[in-house]
Amino acid sequence: MQRRLCERLGIRHPLVQAPMAGATPPELVAAVSRAGALGSLAAGYLSGEQIYHACRDIRSATSHPFSVNLFVPSKITAEPEEIAAAHRALRPLAQHLELDPLPLPEQPAPGFDEQFSAILEANVPIVSFTFGILSQAEITALKARHTFIIGTATSKDEACHLEAAGVDAIVVQGGEAGGHRGSFSARQAASPQSLLTLLPEVSAQVSLPVIAAGGIMNGQGMAAAMAMGAAAVQLGTAFLFTPEAGINAAYRRALLAARGEDTRLTRVFSGKLARGINNTMMRQLAEAAIAPYPMQHLLTQPLRQAAARQDNEDYLSLWAGEGVAMGRVLPATELVALLMDELQSAISQPEQELVDV
Ligand SMILES: Cc1cc2nc3c(=O)[nH]c(=O)nc-3n(C[C@H](O)[C@H](O)[C@H](O)COP(=O)(O)O)c2cc1C
Repeated sequence: MQRRLCERLGIRHPLVQAPMAGATPPELVAAVSRAGALGSLAAGYLSGEQIYHACRDIRSATSHPFSVNLFVPSKITAEPEEIAAAHRALRPLAQHLELDPLPLPEQPAPGFDEQFSAILEANVPIVSFTFGILSQAEITALKARHTFIIGTATSKDEACHLEAAGVDAIVVQGGEAGGHRGSFSARQAASPQSLLTLLPEVSAQVSLPVIAAGGIMNGQGMAAAMAMGAAAVQLGTAFLFTPEAGINAAYRRALLAARGEDTRLTRVFSGKLARGINNTMMRQLAEAAIAPYPMQHLLTQPLRQAAARQDNEDYLSLWAGEGVAMGRVLPATELVALLMDELQSAISQPEQELVDV
């Protein structure tokens, strides 16, 4: 399965650098792809024009395949009272950051149709998506261009829906994962399922190749995921520690200082559940009114931007997975090589050593 998936993706290593909105500039994507893994451009917050230019920049840096990731739009709209209540809850934080009055969002989130057209126009070889399922018309349009399509599931049911929709592979995202949960089914688990139980369950259920994500930080973790049925693995937090990651100094500091138990799931930044390093904003808004995604994301944007300007990690979304304490500061190319060396040693351990522990 591993070799087949790598062949179909046109990559050497069964390793995907996770798409991470706001953190995966063309330099990171190109460096990972050049190293033989799959670099992924997160395009969820980019305009069509930005996507088109980023693909051009990646292609000018490497001829290797890369993927582009989209957010399937939410059908939920925020009611005016919900927006007003969430805005009221943010005002004391805005005052603290000397951002008074806190502006209301002027522009909606980037239009999905425009993003999708840019992906078709740029002839992207691999497209992944999260937060839902692309429409049949969109899947047909991608297949007509021979694009490899990857969906994201956080439960067995979601994986089955993705398989039925005709995707080519599924990212199985465990509860350990940093960033937003890709969940989209009406039946949301009260507590997210960990990769250790979700992965074998999904692998037994679907016949598509499965890509494991969540808490994997080294080659030993990669080997474990592969032993449980993964054809490849997707690492996000591990790549945030590379100098190529597009994150600010305050975020980088928080990553370096974080311990394994420091991450939490929260809706305060965007309205959607996501895992990040616990900070002041998460604590202060724990009981506050929160608008549905993407409205909460737009409402908190000026706050997060002010915090970034002030080098203040207390009011930033510090997305990170449960493996954050295992991060290693290395250029992306070296990280890919190290992960593959570790994977190789982990899978070639003599059986005796594994049994004798
Ligand atoms: C900073 C950050 C941003 C993320 N943004 C996206 C995104 O735009 N699209 C997506 O499909 N997944 C996104 N994710 C989730 C990753 O694809 C992946 O599931 C996760 O990083 C795996 O867990 P790990 O961080 O423990 O390796 C993001 C994760 C992080 C840490």
